[in-house]
Amino acid sequence: MTDASPTLLAGPGDTVAIASDHAGVDLKEALKGDLGALGFKVLDLGTNGPASVDYPDYGKALAEAVTGGKAKAGVAVCGTGIGISIAANRVPGARAALVHDVTTAGLAREHNDANIIAMGARVLAPETACAMLKTFFATPFGGGRHAGRVAKL
Ligand code: RB5
Repeated sequence: MTDASPTLLAGPGDTVAIASDHAGVDLKEALKGDLGALGFKVLDLGTNGPASVDYPDYGKALAEAVTGGKAKAGVAVCGTGIGISIAANRVPGARAALVHDVTTAGLAREHNDANIIAMGARVLAPETACAMLKTFFATPFGGGRHAGRVAKL
């Protein structure tokens, strides 16, 4: 296995996609501001209101935007983060990590080279979600022993 150089998912000016269902829409709006503050362009794939929608549709669209090259990375939000992360991970090439704190947000990048961060709006304080987002995008993939494992996914 080759050692990958430490790499960040995205840098200033790169596009990051974000999507949520109705349960995650308020947190999605807050995180859009945080992504902009980090220098990213934001591709908002909805939903954009409180009307009930189905999280699989949004997880799929998000993962396809990332794996298809429309965005360098993705942010997925639903009530728990569970459903939308399951949906995103059905798309080949998507590595959506459902994380709950800054430790798991960092390890999702360092160990798993996650290209989508998933989180639950009903189980997180908004400031925790913001801190997780910052850590996720500030943490490079560790490469080394992790590279071969990620290649097997
Ligand atoms: C919607 O009520 C809720 O089921 C959804 O947001 C999510 O938590 C599913 O995993």
